[in-house]
Amino acid sequence: MNDELWRTSSNPNSHPYLPHRLMADLDKHRPFVTVILAMSLDGKIADINRNPARFGSAEDKAHLEKQIARSDGVLFGAGTLRAYGTTLRVIQPSLLQERQHQGKPLQPVQIVCSRSALLDPNYPFFRQPVPHWLLTTHRGAQRWQTFPGFEKILVAETATEEIDWQAAFQQLTTLGLKQLAVLGGGELVASLLANGFIDEFWITICPLVLGGKSAPTLVEGLGFLEALAPRLQLLELQTQSDEVFLHYRVVRE
Ligand SMILES: NC(=O)c1ccc[n+]([C@@H]2O[C@H](COP(=O)([O-])OP(=O)(O)OC[C@H]3O[C@@H](n4cnc5c(N)ncnc54)[C@H](OP(=O)(O)O)[C@@H]3O)[C@@H](O)[C@H]2O)c1
Repeated sequence: MNDELWRTSSNPNSHPYLPHRLMADLDKHRPFVTVILAMSLDGKIADINRNPARFGSAEDKAHLEKQIARSDGVLFGAGTLRAYGTTLRVIQPSLLQERQHQGKPLQPVQIVCSRSALLDPNYPFFRQPVPHWLLTTHRGAQRWQTFPGFEKILVAETATEEIDWQAAFQQLTTLGLKQLAVLGGGELVASLLANGFIDEFWITICPLVLGGKSAPTLVEGLGFLEALAPRLQLLELQTQSDEVFLHYRVVRE
């Protein structure tokens, strides 16, 4: 998509892209993690039926594809795969060319995060021409021993059968992943945020209101008390028609 189409706000708190992604911020022992999500004005990422979110515009989809094309890996929760059955791959010829130019594989690896790994092997996802990886527990990995589908299965588990993010990110770093795009949903984002593993957010506010207590939000989980809530710094703000694209950095103490 053409960047010139985007109107950058004159908001004094907004900053041009990248200078704020200071190399000093990068932890060499884990990938740089950017969450990219679209939400309704009231912070919902899907409706009460948890239908696949199709409310973003074509520009939002192009924005998402551009962020995916910048990454070495894409991470999403099992709930997101269960809702869509597919993932978003890089299709735009210019983005594919750029990746080729940079000596990157045409597609970033697509990593599903699931404790249980109870996933239908008939999802179209498994037929998409992308590298399919699974991040799971020992129990989850066992489920896929006899099924093809995932080219790589990563096991990183705590004593309480949760994903051990420190160990998971160490494995991803060893496997050469430097930039990770997290596509949701709210449970995965909550867990990464609570563990301090999110560096930036790209959030698109879409012009609709979904409401409903059971509709998933950007960040699920147990929630944060206000005094301890992660704080953000606005890096960039763009508008396109009725959508607002917000780029935030998570402030480190
Ligand atoms: N608007 C958007 O941009 C957007 C983007 C993505 C998704 N969505 C919507 O979001 C909804 C799904 O969100 P969600 O919050 O329900 O689900 P989610 O985070 O995608 O997936 C939840 C599941 O992922 C696994 N998981 C997540 N965090 C984990 C962790 N820390 N450790 C181990 N496993 C973990 C678990 O899988 P197991 O149960 O298999 O163990 C968990 O049940 C769908 O309705 C989808 O349409 C919207």
